[in-house]
Parts: sequence; C-alpha cells; structure tokens
Amino acid sequence: MADPVITLRRATVADIPAFRALGEAVVPATYGPIDAAYAQRMLDEWWVPAVFERSLAVNTHLVAEVDGDVVAMSSFGRLSDSHREFPHVTGDREVMWKLYVHPDSQGLGIGSRLLAQVESMVEGEHLWLEVVDGNDQAFDFYRGKGFDEVERVTDREWPDDVWLRKSLGRVR
Ligand SMILES: CC(C)(COP(=O)(O)OP(=O)(O)OC[C@H]1O[C@@H](n2cnc3c(N)ncnc32)[C@H](O)[C@@H]1OP(=O)(O)O)[C@@H](O)C(=O)NCCC(=O)NCCS
Repeated sequence: MADPVITLRRATVADIPAFRALGEAVVPATYGPIDAAYAQRMLDEWWVPAVFERSLAVNTHLVAEVDGDVVAMSSFGRLSDSHREFPHVTGDREVMWKLYVHPDSQGLGIGSRLLAQVESMVEGEHLWLEVVDGNDQAFDFYRGKGFDEVERVTDREWPDDVWLRKSLGRVR
C-alpha cells in the first residue's frame, strides 16, 4: 500500500471537536500510566472547547491530516500570552504548548514534521516546551531532536513539569 499522504495546515475553531477527540484518544494513553487522575485532570482542564477558543485567539495551532482526518496537532506561542502563572521564569519564551499524535499514527514521522514546522515558524532563537516527568517516550523524542533539560518545576500533588529548550541556531 502507498504511504499515507500527510497534510499540515493551520487550525481554526472548526477543528475544536477534532482536538477534543484527539485528546480523548491520546491523553489517557500517554499520562494514564504515569498518573490516571492527572490524565483526567488534563483532559478536563486543557482539552475543552472554551480553553481551545482562548488558545486559538493568542497561539498558533497546526494540525496534521491523513485523508482529511485530523491525526495530530501542535500549538505554540509566547509564555506572556498564557493565562498560567510561571513564577520561576523571568522574561518571555516561545513555547510549544502541545504536540500530540494519535496513538494509531505515532511512529510515522508526523510528530517530526509538526515539530519542524513549529521550529520554522517561531521567531526567536530558542523553542521551549514542558514534558511531564515520566513521559519517557516524549523525552527520548525531544532529546533526539536537540532539546535539553533546563528546569524542573516540582508540584507536591502532581508529577513534575520538566522544561526543555532547543537552540534554533539562528544567526542574528
Ligand atoms: C512524542 C510524539 C509527539 C512523537 O511523534 P511521532 O509522530 O510518534 O514521532 P515520529 O514518527 O516523528 O518519530 C520521531 C522519532 O521518535 C521515535 N519514535 C517516537 N515515537 C515512536 C513510536 N511510537 N514508535 C516508534 N518510534 C517512535 C522514532 O524512532 C523516530 O526516530 P528517528 O527520527 O530517529 O527515526 C508522539 O509519539 C506523541 O504524540 N506521543 C504521545 C503524546 C506526547 O507525549 N506528546 C508530547 C507531549 S510533551
């Protein structure tokens, strides 16, 4: 069989139902083995229409489609545009907030393509992202793409957030 044709495009509010469906497929599969309650909290707090609407207004969202079906998404923007608090950070950052590939479509190069697209679109010299402690597949993926661990934010109740950063090697 021929390789599937993967198309990347910018997302809009019309993609919110597809984001939710993707979250239901990938979030419990990814975070459930680390902490099932945390996985549920992520879905309830971050993968809901109102949050996507707010995020689409300030961040850039991309989707990957196969035969017209959304199989992956990513989003990125400035830390200063987030409504979350980051007491440990001074200054601003360009952050990839999400990179999620449907479990049935992982390992096909789609995450690599989305990440490369995000890297080409950010303006600064560095791209930052957070990985949940214990998400070893994501750590391996990002290390392979040139990201290094910079900071760890500890929370007594939930798994740590580990901040990774990649220098995009731009000459100013
Ligand atoms: C981590 C993730 C984004 C990677 O995207 P992907 O499309 O599966 O990865 P790719 O196919 O582009 O693979 C890139 C590399 O990772 C390896 N890899 C990643 N996931 C793999 C998998 N499930 N099976 C086999 N190899 C995998 C590949 O060997 C490949 O290495 P190479 O470039 O040296 O050949 C994706 O697996 C995912 O969505 N995981 C669950 C959600 C998640 O953890 N997101 C990150 C949150 S911070």
